Amino acid sequence: MKNKLTLDILCNPYTHNKLEKISKDKDEFLIDVETGQKFLIQDDVPAFISSSDINGANEDSTKFYNSFAPFYELGQKVYYSFFGGEEKARNDYLKYLNIKEGDKVLEVSVGTGANIRFLPRSAQYFGLDISLGQLKQCSKNSEKYGLNIELFWGNAEYLPFRDEAFDVVYHIGGINFFNNKKKAIEEMIRVSKKGTKLLIADETEKVAKFYEKIPYFRGPFKNREGTISAPVDLLPENVKDIKVTEIRKGTLYCLEFIKI
Ligand SMILES: C[S@@+](CC[C@H](N)C(=O)[O-])C[C@H]1O[C@@H](n2cnc3c(N)ncnc32)[C@H](O)[C@@H]1O
Repeated sequence: MKNKLTLDILCNPYTHNKLEKISKDKDEFLIDVETGQKFLIQDDVPAFISSSDINGANEDSTKFYNSFAPFYELGQKVYYSFFGGEEKARNDYLKYLNIKEGDKVLEVSVGTGANIRFLPRSAQYFGLDISLGQLKQCSKNSEKYGLNIELFWGNAEYLPFRDEAFDVVYHIGGINFFNNKKKAIEEMIRVSKKGTKLLIADETEKVAKFYEKIPYFRGPFKNREGTISAPVDLLPENVKDIKVTEIRKGTLYCLEFIKI
């Protein structure tokens, strides 16, 4: 897949300076115009992180998803068969998004791109994930299903996007085990335009109790701190209309709010 790279929404996730694309020998990079820091573009995906930067719970998650990535889609099909099939189960939360023609839409932790298959084709999609294994599958799916999506390897806690770059921002299924949930939420809000509706959804304590008993899946669930709940207490001041709903038989919380 040829990732086309919309440069005017990108920035260095650590300095927020603008980036330019350069070629050196056979490699392509994005370079911070002020500090000269370079980010390699590997297989059309800019790398805003390296494996050695990933630690703590983020490292556990990355290792898990790198190994599970080839089976993720099948696993999801089986799981969603208990909730009326994948399309219905994903639409149960995707219906909270308000995507209009031409919108720039960011999925933080895009995984294999499974949500984007069920969203309007008339928008422009951007996906970031910390697992290269998941991004590889996403790239394949993008070709298979003809998705209009640009991919980035990075950490949700340091988004490589400029302030107010997106019309729609959402995250599904990873935040419970991020190293720094508050920072990730602040980043999703920073890159959203004013008036944007954001959606953050993840599994509830009910699911954690189930998974903690199952070998292979139990890792993050077994080591969780306290009881899982929607991270309402981590929201900053510049949001309004906060709403929490539990869907799919109480297995998924959906936290919606608007940036002001
Ligand atoms: C359950 S999957 C959800 C994927 C996709 N959103 C979906 O609904 O199918 C969770 C995803 O979160 C990603 N993830 C975990 N920690 C992350 C972090 N700190 N930054 C970005 N992505 C992360 C994982 O690599 C994985 O792809």
